[in-house]
Amino acid sequence: MSKILKSALLGTALTAATATAVMAEGVELEVTHWWTSGGEAAAVAKFANAWNATGNTWVDGAIAGSGGTARPIIISRIIGGDPMAATQLNHGRQAEELIEAGLLLDLTDVAEAGGWAEIVNPSSLLEACTLDGKIYCVPVNIHSAQWIWLSHAAYKSAGLDVPTDWNEFTASAGSLKEAGILPLAMGQQGWQQNIAFGAITLAVAGQEAWNGVNIDKNADVARGPEYTAAFEAVAAARDLAAESNVQDWNMATNLVITGQAGAQIMGDWAQGEFSVAEQVEGKDYSCLPGLGLNPVIDTGGDAFYFPVNDDPAITAAQKELAALLISPEVQVSFNLAKGSLPVRGDIDMSTANGCMQKGLKILANGGVLPSGDISFSQDTTLQIEDLQAQFWSSDMSAADAQAAYADIIANAD
Ligand code: GAL
Repeated sequence: MSKILKSALLGTALTAATATAVMAEGVELEVTHWWTSGGEAAAVAKFANAWNATGNTWVDGAIAGSGGTARPIIISRIIGGDPMAATQLNHGRQAEELIEAGLLLDLTDVAEAGGWAEIVNPSSLLEACTLDGKIYCVPVNIHSAQWIWLSHAAYKSAGLDVPTDWNEFTASAGSLKEAGILPLAMGQQGWQQNIAFGAITLAVAGQEAWNGVNIDKNADVARGPEYTAAFEAVAAARDLAAESNVQDWNMATNLVITGQAGAQIMGDWAQGEFSVAEQVEGKDYSCLPGLGLNPVIDTGGDAFYFPVNDDPAITAAQKELAALLISPEVQVSFNLAKGSLPVRGDIDMSTANGCMQKGLKILANGGVLPSGDISFSQDTTLQIEDLQAQFWSSDMSAADAQAAYADIIANAD
């Protein structure tokens, strides 16, 4: 970003009227996020209640829609001089230009006081918050995208056993269809289709090929035989989701919860929806990390950033909130509700359900991968999501999709 633009941006932000007000009995902080489904709202309430319990006030800035909708709104508010006091973004590179422009609060003193370098696991999550040795966000959870969620009611009504891996699922799809059940629930948004693409790729192409593309950005691997098999598997999955006419991810999850669909490939934030629906893992639904074939998970998820502010009372409150979000008791209450894994390994998660225990075991065994948000720039991620949206909603051939994908990887940054 040019120095002229940087100074203009910084000037705008610092003189902006703060998005908060300092009150005698505490500090109001406006916090933006995109957690608006039933499960997400229940989880973010854990953060809000903890902050309000300190005598301060959480002003909820929920933005409806997916991260793809919310992020441009969040970023334009910060750049435009109307900053919130705190905001959710994903782990990774979404805030790198805001940090470089000096628009986000340096939290290094809070991180050092809280020993974040010793407690955050995996350490890659704190590295994703760090630029030039300074820490600009507080990681709050680990979400992984390589899960399939299966409806016991759907399989029971079709007279079938619940699958134990992706291959058994695809083999069951014909019988589900005959029973009038949608095999694969899918919201019609590129980021959701990209989650399915990523999970199927990891399961079908395998870890080595996945690493070659997602970590080494090797376009030759993307053009190779392992990815040919993966794109053919995705084309087959497209057929299983052809009748899924919902938009939002949680509407697709609801199709599984209500037994209208056999399964959904979605991140483990889907847990929150099953919890709100009072469904029990192992009784009402099953979850298979790595689609039951390759039990590794990526370290996606969320971190909170704090736009710079010229009021010392606000800045102090922002740092107090950052420390609160990673504190042991808040980590337990928030992640149990969110269905995500905590970012610290020194807390008691024994009350987590079977799916979270599967994730915790994989994490403890080191079966973790960087998420796409950490590997690729937002520009590359959006190109891949646009390709997936086109691939899943048309009769585009697997070969054409693979060629287009390899070209994106060849130019990925
Ligand atoms: C992700 C976020 C999750 C989840 C999901 C769906 O980007 O990390 O917390 O809420 O979006 O909204």
